[in-house]
Amino acid sequence: MAMIPLGAPQLRFRRFSAALGGAIQGVFDGTQFILGPRVEAFEEDFATYLGVRHCIGVNSGTDALILALRSLGIGAGDEVITVSMSFTATAMAVLHAGAQPRFVDVDPVTRCMDLAQVEAAVTSRTVAILPVHLHGYPMDMPRLMALAERHRLAVVEDCAQAHGARIDGRVVGSWGHLGAFSFYPTKNLGCPGDGGAVVTGDPALAARVRALRTYGWFDEQRVSAELALNSRLDELQAAVLSALLPHLDEGNHERALLAARYRTLLEGVDVGLPSYHPGRVSPIRDLCPTT
Ligand SMILES: Cc1ncc(COP(=O)(O)O)c(C=O)c1O
Repeated sequence: MAMIPLGAPQLRFRRFSAALGGAIQGVFDGTQFILGPRVEAFEEDFATYLGVRHCIGVNSGTDALILALRSLGIGAGDEVITVSMSFTATAMAVLHAGAQPRFVDVDPVTRCMDLAQVEAAVTSRTVAILPVHLHGYPMDMPRLMALAERHRLAVVEDCAQAHGARIDGRVVGSWGHLGAFSFYPTKNLGCPGDGGAVVTGDPALAARVRALRTYGWFDEQRVSAELALNSRLDELQAAVLSALLPHLDEGNHERALLAARYRTLLEGVDVGLPSYHPGRVSPIRDLCPTT
């Protein structure tokens, strides 16, 4: 019996090995290895790709979530509405920030947060909503943002599984107050190590994330003004990510074609396939009609 691996990031690294080799050599030819010019260039490239003003490279998707929540001042006594139908890091990030996750279920069709349950889960302690764009499947962000605005709640998008997924032509990560990405090797945009990013349109939140990823240093004086992390993206990972970013949409399209092929070949087989809704959004949905 042939085993189908869950992921094979090495294939992508091999496919672009010439460009990646050059990018990596460039790091060795330079003098800065952490938070240098390649991290800055990638932050700019990724922000441009997403259409957001600020991108801050960090050590992982988990740290991106923690730092996004911390930048909002979320902590003890606060509740964050999120889903348990996610990778464990989503709820852990809320706990690391000192707050309590309040779980709502997902919609069985979209597998994203059920908006009707969110409304009912809001309490006087709720400060934020943390939706997850699961399996490349984007949450209905226009409706979620309207709900959040009504209740004056912050929104942090967990985009770790949905780089490049779009809602009404607008990519995930650009809807909420902040977005958190993982560049773990198997992700749609993945590096050969750990990596992550926080994105936001708010310069004050961006400045807070930048300080909190580097020991709480808010200025050149390097005074640790707040309990913070060492969570920095390194030059090697940034160089690879910049070389792979131009291929993200094409890679997503290939995945969509493969998903469509699975769907065709599995027709009539008694297995539960994800359902797709027309209209919104992911590249996969565009190719797969509603089932
Ligand atoms: C939905 C989700 N959130 C957060 C994370 C955490 O990312 P990382 O492994 O880079 O810390 C992941 C990683 O798999 C994820 O799938």
